[in-house]
Amino acid sequence: MSVIQSDILILGSGVAGLSTAIKLAKALPNKSIIVATKNNKEESNTKYAQGGIAAVWNEDDSFESHIQDTLKAGDYENDLEVVKMVVENAPERLNELIQWGADFDINSKNEYDLGKEGGHSTNRILHHKDVTGYEIQMTLIKQVESLANIQFLDHHFAIELITEHHFKNKKIELGQKDIHCYGAYILNEKTSEIDTYLAHKVVLATGGSGQSYATTTNPVIATGDGIGMAFRAKAQIDDMQYIQFHPTALYEPGKSPAFLISEAVRGFGAYIKNKKGERFMFKVDERGELASRDIVSRAINMEINTSGNECVYLDCTHLDQEAFYNHFPNIVDKCKSIGINVTKDYIPVLPAMHYMCGGVSVNREGKTTINNLYANGEVARTGLHGANRLASNSLLEALVFGDIIAQNIIDNKADLEQAFPPIPEWNTEGTMDPKELILISHNRKSVQNIMNDLVGIVRSHQRLERAIDHLNYIYEDTEKMFKRVTISPQICELRNINAVAYLIVKQSMEARENKGAFYSLDLIL
Ligand code: FAD
Ligand code: SIN
Repeated sequence: MSVIQSDILILGSGVAGLSTAIKLAKALPNKSIIVATKNNKEESNTKYAQGGIAAVWNEDDSFESHIQDTLKAGDYENDLEVVKMVVENAPERLNELIQWGADFDINSKNEYDLGKEGGHSTNRILHHKDVTGYEIQMTLIKQVESLANIQFLDHHFAIELITEHHFKNKKIELGQKDIHCYGAYILNEKTSEIDTYLAHKVVLATGGSGQSYATTTNPVIATGDGIGMAFRAKAQIDDMQYIQFHPTALYEPGKSPAFLISEAVRGFGAYIKNKKGERFMFKVDERGELASRDIVSRAINMEINTSGNECVYLDCTHLDQEAFYNHFPNIVDKCKSIGINVTKDYIPVLPAMHYMCGGVSVNREGKTTINNLYANGEVARTGLHGANRLASNSLLEALVFGDIIAQNIIDNKADLEQAFPPIPEWNTEGTMDPKELILISHNRKSVQNIMNDLVGIVRSHQRLERAIDHLNYIYEDTEKMFKRVTISPQICELRNINAVAYLIVKQSMEARENKGAFYSLDLIL
């Protein structure tokens, strides 16, 4: 077990972690930055992003329009100042990303081809075909690898944030002001050692938590680790009841994660139909298929419940097929691989857990309630999304807050000179290798099924109470296991999924109004 010191430690290598690292490394060439990530360098939600990034890009559009669309989608629960800040910073951040090498599609007029998605009143989504996330992820990795003061550690799993909790014998309460983050305990998956990483500033950029549900568009790494770590460190966490279900994940029973059929497909003109071939969205919202996601997902949920069918369909058969293929080659090829010819067949789709609108609360400088700890990206709750995120505002939020956090650290660079208190190494005494890993994977599946069945698009007090009872049992069982077994990513992810599930249920129980993505049968007026 080693002690490794750097000036800045960034946990996570999606758009949030990497963009923050790049800005810091360029501005502070003499400062050391470690980016630790639990899987290979590119694995992240970012890598799978399809639709693109929203930004006001031409004269037909305006900041005011993007601001209003964001507020309306968020059911006006957003922080207006944050919305303005993100929207107005978007063109500059996108230009910077383009300078770093990101390639966005160009149309026949030699202008950026702007896509449309639900809740946007105009076309404003820059994209790279339907694999925008991969393009961004690889661009950022190339930049990071060109910067000598960044050490990029793959297969390094952050277990816990280091705070006073680890060296002072006193109980830490939620909201306590004098807590500091001094780094993290990280499991090196190559050596199985747990090392102590000390840093003056820590940026939590560990992404989302789709894996707390059985049906999700998120890859298996999205286990809410940052939420779990921050929760145990007693950081403020808010808005967890606002879980965004994407309306159109490909319906492939038994397949997890679910493949996404981008909302940009509907922006391109595809219809949502039921089994009888009827469009039903206009019965619910005048924007039809392009209403915001909370509304479309609830309408699909209702259609499925009343019809008894297992899915609904996307109809792309009337679209210009050549143009469609040019924009969505990945989606067309995926459909083809399972026998669906999008020129003739409907695509079966179903809503799936997609995005966590809440998270670790940060102020307008990206600071959490724990000193020296910042949060960026999906793990953070900035106030941008309110009760429901507007499509393609997530990658953007991470770029804007990456810039803001870097600037804040640069402005306070004297903090990088401070001495560390004596920090103990991770204690592995009394633990042994688990004999039955099945017990861990069984608990993980149980939580995912509880969340799917009882904490979905439509909730009720009774369902939530049932969920919390089941989750409490799994929590107790997991904590007992955690004390006994050697630390592994599996047991840590299970603990983090438990924490996320608990927070979603608890904050759903506390909600007093149906807003955006949160809808309870007991709160219908
Ligand atoms: P991520 O990109 O998920 O990165 C998190 C990183 O943290 C990963 O590297 C992960 O391995 C690492 N990590 C996690 N836990 C640990 C740990 N314990 N220790 C060390 N490392 C850890 N948004 C848009 O704006 N536009 C889109 O078109 C779009 N399409 C999407 C399509 C799909 C299929 C999905 C799933 C999401 C989409 N989103 C989209 C949402 C968007 O992709 C994510 O919200 C965004 O990429 C999150 O970025 P992030 O950097 O916060 O997290
Ligand atoms: C999509 O392409 O539909 C996803 C966009 C997003 O999550 O913002």
